[in-house]
Amino acid sequence: MIAVSIRQYKDDDFPLVLGLETAGGHEPYRSAVFIRQMGVVCRNTFLVALLDTEQVGYTVGVLVQGQPREAWILRIGVHEDQRRNGVGSILLSELLEVFCTLGVRTVRLTVSPWNVPALGLYLKSGFKQENYHEAYFGRDEDRIVMVKEMG
Ligand SMILES: CC(C)(COP(=O)(O)OP(=O)(O)OC[C@H]1O[C@@H](n2cnc3c(N)ncnc32)[C@H](O)[C@@H]1OP(=O)(O)O)[C@@H](O)C(=O)NCCC(=O)NCCS
Repeated sequence: MIAVSIRQYKDDDFPLVLGLETAGGHEPYRSAVFIRQMGVVCRNTFLVALLDTEQVGYTVGVLVQGQPREAWILRIGVHEDQRRNGVGSILLSELLEVFCTLGVRTVRLTVSPWNVPALGLYLKSGFKQENYHEAYFGRDEDRIVMVKEMG
């Protein structure tokens, strides 16, 4: 098992997370706003993975307002050079652990049906397909909703 450690997001992590957020070629401004906002409002559920002292991945989760037993995972990303090394799995399991301590029982996320690595990660981590939405994020942007019930 890789010697990765996970901790809460700090402002120093902004460059790493921005790089991962915008790696897909998305316009950076919206990602920058998202990261700064999440850094303020999701302190317990915005996590960063470290290899030694190097930041290599992140994940952001949120609790559903008015439904304290339900949560969503909004983001997960691992630096390209460190993928397929177990970092994503460790990040995800740490976030699920935090959700558990907060009393969450049901965790959902959306994933593109063409995102083979992410689908693999979620299936391996016990998520199951709950729904399929065509054009969820616009034309040709279908999304699978996945769910995991925690014991
Ligand atoms: C999805 C992502 C976070 C996975 O992180 P990772 O650290 O590489 O994942 P892990 O090494 O823990 O892999 C866990 C499992 O996921 C699956 N998986 C990961 N990468 C895969 C790939 N390229 N092809 C097929 N399955 C893959 C495998 O089942 C893997 O288990 P295995 O290595 O024992 O076979 C990473 O690929 C990433 O950052 N992608 C870009 C951002 C993104 O798409 N985020 C998800 C948005 S919904």
